[in-house]
Amino acid sequence: MSEREPIGVVGAGWVGLVTAACFAELGHRVVVREIVPEKVESLRRGEVPIHEPELPELIERNRERLTFTTEMSELLDGPRLLFICVQTPPTYSGDADLSAVNRAVEEIGDPAGKALVMKSTVPVGTGRTIHRDAPDLAYVSCPEFLKEGTAVNDFLKPDRVVIGADPGEEWAADAVAGIYEPLGAPIVRTDLSSAEMIKLASNAYLATKISFINEIANVCDEVGADVTEVARGMGMDPRIGDKFLNAGLGFGGSCFPKDTQALKILAGNSGYHFQLLNSVIEVNELQKRRVMAKLSKHLDSLVGKRVALLGLAFKPDTDDMREASSLVLASRLEGEGATVVAFDPVAEQRARELLPKVDMAASAMETLDGADAAVLVTEWPEFAQLDWAEVAKRMSNPLLVDGRNFLDPVAVRAAGITYEAIGRPSVAAIRVAGGREAEQAER
Ligand code: UGA
Repeated sequence: MSEREPIGVVGAGWVGLVTAACFAELGHRVVVREIVPEKVESLRRGEVPIHEPELPELIERNRERLTFTTEMSELLDGPRLLFICVQTPPTYSGDADLSAVNRAVEEIGDPAGKALVMKSTVPVGTGRTIHRDAPDLAYVSCPEFLKEGTAVNDFLKPDRVVIGADPGEEWAADAVAGIYEPLGAPIVRTDLSSAEMIKLASNAYLATKISFINEIANVCDEVGADVTEVARGMGMDPRIGDKFLNAGLGFGGSCFPKDTQALKILAGNSGYHFQLLNSVIEVNELQKRRVMAKLSKHLDSLVGKRVALLGLAFKPDTDDMREASSLVLASRLEGEGATVVAFDPVAEQRARELLPKVDMAASAMETLDGADAAVLVTEWPEFAQLDWAEVAKRMSNPLLVDGRNFLDPVAVRAAGITYEAIGRPSVAAIRVAGGREAEQAER
């Protein structure tokens, strides 16, 4: 592969590492600047600090092209394109905290002939504000659309690449378009503010889809329909699409909760009350708690009960615990007097700090031992393989709430376990899988 334009990346977090490793894979030399020295040390030793499938292999394969440093000067002396991949967590007011972005921008200064390429999710208007203060440094908005767990694949096979720049900055937008060109994805060239809004609106829309299907699930619970069947039927309409229609315990992670909040606040700060988004956020908050009612249906009281959580991460294939539904659920359960025991195949270490009172088990079976109830919180594939007859024997009360509609109700119920799901009331449900199969409710 021929040598391609060198690239600078600021921030070795999840987005920064995936971006750097994927650009290296495309043949670019990449200098990654990270302020935490221990992180740089471990990356130099070849240790990857996050759980993201394919990332360690990609970093290993492209070691020659990747440099990790704590020095901003190494970036400033080299590449033209500086990708900003730092965190923008929410502040108490719900606004995005731009302090890491601002710190990076300050250190970069205003060098002519270079371009700052913003990957971090920032409020609309941030680009123009930064550019006003640093007029010689070109500014391009190039939001990321990576999903944790499939980020490498999402990067290398994007649906689209959004590149926003204002007039006069075409050289920088062209340069960014050039480095994405080998991926063969449609490139959306637009102005700076619209690019920033595309990112926020995309996440808000996906979050809206999830809250919508969760509300449909809640109605299904009342009226006896099965939300998975409803979603299947809805999703075949291409105007709706079948993605992001999985009802469950609500959305978590570092993006949807933060970005919906940030858009709501951005609208509010500009004098607009974003009513729909307010509801999306509220539905999501309540959804995390709905399991409590499902448990109470079968248990008189939760005081002194042992409740097992299967999975803690905000979704499978990641160890990310940010805004995970498990955090709210565990503390609600503890608040009701239950003892919570949990197992997660990769998030245990991160979860320990956040859930100090939760007993961490070494395996799914160990979590279920002697439990009065279990809740499937994260749809890790290994949970679908459990020996349900053995689970029924081990639990002191075989009650399972499937918070992600992930398990096969027939197999679970056949083992004598009381099975509850989200929007799949345990009256007779009809499943169509190759042929029609009647599933008898069993309580
Ligand atoms: C999300 C977006 O999907 C990415 O496009 C975006 O780039 C990223 O945020 C970001 O802004 O950085 P991510 O947070 O990694 O990606 O994960 P998702 O797969 O979108 O899941 C988010 C949450 O929604 C999870 O808690 C998941 O369990 C939940 N979800 C997702 C549902 O409850 N139902 C669904 O149908 C889909």
